[in-house]
Amino acid sequence: MADVAFASEESLERLFRQARTHSAWLDRPVAPELLRQIYDLAKWGPTSANSSPARFVFVTTPEAKARLLPAVAPGNVEKTRTAPVNVIVAWDTLYYDELPRLFPHAPGMRDFFAGNPEMAREAALRNGSLQGGYFILAARGLGLDCGPMSGFDAAKLNAEFFPDGRWKANFLLNLGYGDPDKLMPRNPRLDFDEACRVL
Ligand SMILES: Cc1cc2nc3c(=O)[nH]c(=O)nc-3n(C[C@H](O)[C@H](O)[C@H](O)COP(=O)(O)O)c2cc1C
Repeated sequence: MADVAFASEESLERLFRQARTHSAWLDRPVAPELLRQIYDLAKWGPTSANSSPARFVFVTTPEAKARLLPAVAPGNVEKTRTAPVNVIVAWDTLYYDELPRLFPHAPGMRDFFAGNPEMAREAALRNGSLQGGYFILAARGLGLDCGPMSGFDAAKLNAEFFPDGRWKANFLLNLGYGDPDKLMPRNPRLDFDEACRVL
């Protein structure tokens, strides 16, 4: 199976080679059903013990955006303000309570994580960040552009959106149709020989 390329060159261009991180947005709304379609693709990406710790908050109204902007770093305000949709990629601190349903053949997993808070947090950040990556690729696959951001005040954002402390923000993501005319030139990536070792 592995010697057959299933994704078309066009898909690979769209998902990876041509896709860019956008900061300027076309005046084109994101259809509400696309938010569900992105999630319904991204949810299939793998996580350890199928734990699926990520949670996604879609900020779509001026009222919700007004709550978000004060927590965003100054350099990120304009791109966040103008993006049709902002996404808070969060994680559920009690994600392991779903394990009996999500990973039923290993009944001890919920209690293992519940009893190891450090390990539970590390696994949540690893897997929740992976899910954020799956989300970006799903959005690109559906024709959208993303602008991920870690420049924000997490304490402020969590107090505003998650006052009970159960969900916590991991990173933010602007979503829309990027304006290709406003892109800076693409920066390089590390070459295979710099970033990889084949042992
Ligand atoms: C987790 C994450 C956090 C980021 N945080 C910010 C940010 O706070 N502000 C910003 O302008 N860009 C931010 N970026 C954008 C990166 O600088 C950008 O994705 C990278 O330079 C690659 O750009 P390209 O996709 O156009 O090649 C972030 C990207 C990621 C994945």
